[in-house]
Amino acid sequence: MTDTPLEPTRRDFLKIAWAFFGGLALVETAGVFIAYLQPRLAEGEFGSVISAGLVDDFPPNSVTHISNGRFYVVRLGDGGFMAVYHRCTHLGCTVPWDPAAQKFVCPCHNSQFDQQGTVENPPAPRPLDLFGVSIENGEVKVDTGDLRQRQSFESAQVVYP
Ligand code: FES
Repeated sequence: MTDTPLEPTRRDFLKIAWAFFGGLALVETAGVFIAYLQPRLAEGEFGSVISAGLVDDFPPNSVTHISNGRFYVVRLGDGGFMAVYHRCTHLGCTVPWDPAAQKFVCPCHNSQFDQQGTVENPPAPRPLDLFGVSIENGEVKVDTGDLRQRQSFESAQVVYP
């Protein structure tokens, strides 16, 4: 009669270790795969749809910078909305709104744009770009993934509540 060992053998230990680390690797791989399938952008980040605020938050004839979206909400005197990208169409500097002059003035090479983003003073080659705007349940939503270049201002670029 032979005695069977009660202690795990070296072979048993290696089997358990392989099973443990193999399972851990599978869990990590599954986690990476699930993360890959998640949407790339969270709501409210640049590149996604951003809620700029309620229609009544923007008085007619106003310009409001939405810094996390990198755009200005321009509400024209007639109540229409535009979302103007704050990036200069010359070489890409951020263009501030000058409330005293009532225009966008680029600090880099002095391009100037009116309230609708139309070039008033070169070297900018074209108006400031726009983002798509929609108004849903009294809320102004701007799709910063929907960049629209243009050559001039057109009334179709304005969205009304
Ligand atoms: S980058 Fe704005 S004028 Fe040159």
